[in-house]
Amino acid sequence: MSNIEELERRRLKLQVRLDAAKTQFERNQMGQFATPTKLATEIVGYGQSLLGSHAKLQFFDPAIGTGSFYSALLSCVPTSRIKSAFGIEVDPHYGLPALDLWRKTNLRLQFGDFTKAIPAKNELANFVVCNPPYVRHHHLHGEDKLRLRALIEQQTGIRLSGLAGLYCYFLLLSQRWMLPSGIAGWLIPSEFMDVNYGDEVKAFLLNRVTLLHIHRFDPAEVQFDDALVSSAVVWFRNEPPPPNHVVRFSFGGTLATPRQDRFFSLNDLRAAPKWSRLLTNDLSPPLNDRPVLGDFFRIQRGLATGSNEFFVLSEEQIKDRQLPQKFFSPILPSPRYLPVDEVKSNPSGIPVLKQSLFLLDCDLPEETVQDRYPNLWKYLERGVDAGVSQRYLCQHRSPWYSQERRSPPQLLCTYMGRTTTSKGRPFRFILNHSKAVAANVYLLLYPRPKMERMIRDRPSLLRELWRYLNNLPIDSLTSEGRVYGGGLYKLEPRELANLPIEIQHMVDCKAKRRRQHALFE
Ligand SMILES: C[S@@+](CC[C@H](N)C(=O)[O-])C[C@H]1O[C@@H](n2cnc3c(N)ncnc32)[C@H](O)[C@@H]1O
Repeated sequence: MSNIEELERRRLKLQVRLDAAKTQFERNQMGQFATPTKLATEIVGYGQSLLGSHAKLQFFDPAIGTGSFYSALLSCVPTSRIKSAFGIEVDPHYGLPALDLWRKTNLRLQFGDFTKAIPAKNELANFVVCNPPYVRHHHLHGEDKLRLRALIEQQTGIRLSGLAGLYCYFLLLSQRWMLPSGIAGWLIPSEFMDVNYGDEVKAFLLNRVTLLHIHRFDPAEVQFDDALVSSAVVWFRNEPPPPNHVVRFSFGGTLATPRQDRFFSLNDLRAAPKWSRLLTNDLSPPLNDRPVLGDFFRIQRGLATGSNEFFVLSEEQIKDRQLPQKFFSPILPSPRYLPVDEVKSNPSGIPVLKQSLFLLDCDLPEETVQDRYPNLWKYLERGVDAGVSQRYLCQHRSPWYSQERRSPPQLLCTYMGRTTTSKGRPFRFILNHSKAVAANVYLLLYPRPKMERMIRDRPSLLRELWRYLNNLPIDSLTSEGRVYGGGLYKLEPRELANLPIEIQHMVDCKAKRRRQHALFE
């Protein structure tokens, strides 16, 4: 075993030990998910080839962790080509052991927050490789977010959306650490390609630097074991784009041998609202003038209760605790526990399912509950003790145990799913005959007035629509939604509303029948 292989073996052991000493929550908060060796080697190997095989490398990793990319660098290029190597790590838990591991190499490791570091002239790099912390915006403290947004605006003139995750700040800030014509490779969630907060990142990639290549890994071939994110590697050169520049988009397989390769001009990319579509087979033109589901239905997320465990009870639990039934309304179980796509109802509007669930929803002030409903009061006190009343959503409701208003929807769609399920469909449409509402694991479809009238005229239309939606090609739904690691798809209300649908024939059918009626009248 070579010295470098031995170091990598020790680094991997160290990584496992250091990860195990932290909780998943702690690692999530700081985006601490290391790059697997094979992937790190693939990225570094490809990146150094973009610089030309003779260029001396000035390597920089702004979120170095235990140094998976540095290790990959040592295994990919001879040390004589590595002019300098520098990394920053905020967490000494990883940084200190890493410092010890690499002490005999030329890696210089600095402790601190990359977003607060200022590069010295001799620290500028021509080869930046980074798997930045995937910290979502709501985990960034308010003050930190303000600081970061102001910093980005001051450095780049770009106003990042408040919804951007920490990785977007990392990417934009890194430019000031780069030498002119240097190459950067970022292993980041591909989400930025499709969501609104990614617009500024895309504008940066199109206008401030030369975007060279985006490779999207196939979500079905997960790159990370413990972080459910689909990943892409974004490569750019630190110089303005030359005229007629084309960008490579590849998908699946490996960076060196992707399953699919495409090239787009910058103008193509400027015109494409969702870049992830450019990576898959769906290259259909914008569907602006075709009818979409949102023309017929208002789509809303289901109820966010703040704690399903506390607010959703079974019939037995309600009886056991002798809670007043009038404060409970039926609610559907989560899709995983809903074996049918059509929910029948008993005469009281309760779903006919193996287990009936109910949502606690009471608007009465605390004093009234305490006074008149002692059992319910006792139950609410348990919620207070368990910290439920202090949760974000509950704190923003008055009283904390009341719920948002939602009427029982007749049609629902599951909010997320995988293509790898037995049915092979990530999303299911549910026809609901009961009075049950649903939690935010569903999207609720409420007919718009025109559609409501049509359904009233011809009640079977709803069933026809439900069948039609469940028979749509899987692609038509997955291309509207977002995809995460392991082939997990999610659909936001706006995305489902964008689903193109061809239901004219169903509606025409009604018009024809009306004409026939008119003939007989
Ligand atoms: C996704 S991990 C990647 C680690 C390593 N480069 C790899 O690819 O295996 C991100 C690393 O960034 C560190 N980190 C988080 N916030 C940081 C910050 N503000 N400045 C520098 N490092 C940070 C985390 O502690 C973690 O080690």
